[in-house]
Amino acid sequence: MSQPKPVRKAVLPVAGMGTRFLPATKAVPKEMLTVVDKPVVQYAVEEAMEAGIEQFIFVTGRGKHVIEDHFDHAYELEALLRARGRTAELNGLLEDLPVTGSVSFTRQQSPLGLGHAVWCARHFVGDEPFAVLLPDDLMVGTPGALKQMIEVYNRVGGGVVVAAEEKPLEEVKRYGVIAPGAEKGNAVEVKGVVEKPDPAMAPSRLTVIGRYILDPQVFIELDRKEKGAGGEIQLTDSMAKLIGQVPFHAVKTNCTRYDCGSKEGFLQANIAVGLSRPDIAPSLRAMLKTINL
Ligand code: G1P
Repeated sequence: MSQPKPVRKAVLPVAGMGTRFLPATKAVPKEMLTVVDKPVVQYAVEEAMEAGIEQFIFVTGRGKHVIEDHFDHAYELEALLRARGRTAELNGLLEDLPVTGSVSFTRQQSPLGLGHAVWCARHFVGDEPFAVLLPDDLMVGTPGALKQMIEVYNRVGGGVVVAAEEKPLEEVKRYGVIAPGAEKGNAVEVKGVVEKPDPAMAPSRLTVIGRYILDPQVFIELDRKEKGAGGEIQLTDSMAKLIGQVPFHAVKTNCTRYDCGSKEGFLQANIAVGLSRPDIAPSLRAMLKTINL
């Protein structure tokens, strides 16, 4: 089996309005809400960097310009930290900066669905495989989720690779759901995938979570702009059309997923990540014990 083309680019759809988090998201993009002390979107970028991604394409919308500022120098702040000798904070900020020229921003001009958001990045992606990371899905684990998926991508000869997780049957209606085929270690062949099915019609309880490696052929399908579940242009539907044309696998990563698109998941992520941080875990643990549940 020849080595598949390397995955160098990642698309991060960040155009969603975040209505579930109002009033917090009235003036602040939901991707900038923090888990402990880092915006949700930065976790996704760091995961992608760890996996070897070199170019980051953000699909944004109105009011999202602070995401652009976040991945740029903050001159006044840097000058202030330098003048005050706050070297650790300054170096932290500088180390987090993506390489100059490696981030691009394009706008999804109308909220027509995830498939449409990914399609908006087509000219930046061009004719090569690419990753999609939905920042709402915070993946915590070592190695990172995308890195584990790229290992599978190289092992199975490329094509499409999605991250997947088993869910209780009553929850599958919120996800893309996989019809699984043969198991290959931590990967399973994908025979079909359907967006937000009625539990009675779901092909399994194996759901897609927000990490994808896609073949550029998906743009040919997305170009048709066919509407699916909820009247939206769904990424799942275009991806499903690639079954049989390219290898297609789902990976059960050993990462924990926190759904930062829901209030409970977001709070859970803050507590779990806080408890994994040596600088604050002892005091946080002590404080949690004082809460009367
Ligand atoms: C999107 C995808 C869905 C996937 C989910 C993972 O749904 O359309 O297939 O299972 O992300 O988080 P959304 O959460 O945008 O409704």
